[in-house]
Amino acid sequence: MSNTVLITGCSSGFGKLAANTFRDRGWNVVATMRSPHKETELTELDNVLVNRLDVTDPASIETSIQEGIDRFGAIDSLVNNAGFGSNALFEQSTDESIRNIYETNVFGLMNVMRAVLPHMRERGSGSVINVTSMAGLIGLLGNSVYSSSKFAVEGLTEALALEYKPLGIQIKSVAPGAYVTTEFLNNTDNYIESGDPQLQEHSQKLRDHFANIIAAGDPQDPQEVADKIYECATSETPVHNPVGADAERLSGLIDSSPTRQDFVVAMEQMLLPAS
Ligand SMILES: NC(=O)c1ccc[n+]([C@@H]2O[C@H](COP(=O)([O-])OP(=O)(O)OC[C@H]3O[C@@H](n4cnc5c(N)ncnc54)[C@H](OP(=O)(O)O)[C@@H]3O)[C@@H](O)[C@H]2O)c1
Repeated sequence: MSNTVLITGCSSGFGKLAANTFRDRGWNVVATMRSPHKETELTELDNVLVNRLDVTDPASIETSIQEGIDRFGAIDSLVNNAGFGSNALFEQSTDESIRNIYETNVFGLMNVMRAVLPHMRERGSGSVINVTSMAGLIGLLGNSVYSSSKFAVEGLTEALALEYKPLGIQIKSVAPGAYVTTEFLNNTDNYIESGDPQLQEHSQKLRDHFANIIAAGDPQDPQEVADKIYECATSETPVHNPVGADAERLSGLIDSSPTRQDFVVAMEQMLLPAS
């Protein structure tokens, strides 16, 4: 019998590519999204069940999982991909915007794991792939709240990888670098024009500097993220999996820096614009 994967956030970007990647390699796919009525491509594919799942709505999670099990018999792999970004200095972020990003990127991901793990435990097997970010490996100035949400998931993943290993369940993260062709930038909350003039000017300067760094690199193909997610679900890989030339370079720099402080100094030189 074919394996089955449930993926969150399949309306676009890495989620949609991952759904196609697993499906093309013979898996059954529960391709979940907040607005399945808008989906026209995945609904046409055999062995793909498109259904509604909002990671902030526990009832939708339960229903989506149950429909997946009813249709395909089991869920062998979970890909926690749903998430969004925030361009803002910490002081530009409102309490509400901070809570919103944590509701999706952290608590929403936990909601889905909490619902799927008992099923995997009962079967004594399974894998969970959490899509984090390069911003979960380095403290990304100008995106501090987003960065902290992805650090939270990196830490959670590392702890759970050990907690669940004896139970036959693999838990890993995939940390993509910058991929500008998904809907990520369009879906990113933007607060760089909030706050007092000093904050606005500082925020804009950081954003322009970061945008220049991204623009100077070659555009990266988001299919490589989908392929890495598939590789993590199907082969022996490390717990933490940076993907993309930029994320791999940063991860290499972390590993080769004598101390974390040496790495922070290197990041300062790279990411802080000259004043
Ligand atoms: N692109 C990058 O440069 C990049 C880099 C590092 C990490 N990431 C991470 O990769 C993941 C996917 O991003 P992407 O680049 O593919 O961006 P994307 O095209 O914007 O995809 C994000 C997906 O998450 C969904 N989503 C948002 N809130 C949700 C919720 N409450 N419940 C369920 N689904 C929800 C969106 O659905 P709707 O269509 O309903 O909004 C969309 O399907 C995110 O976790 C992101 O943080 C992206």
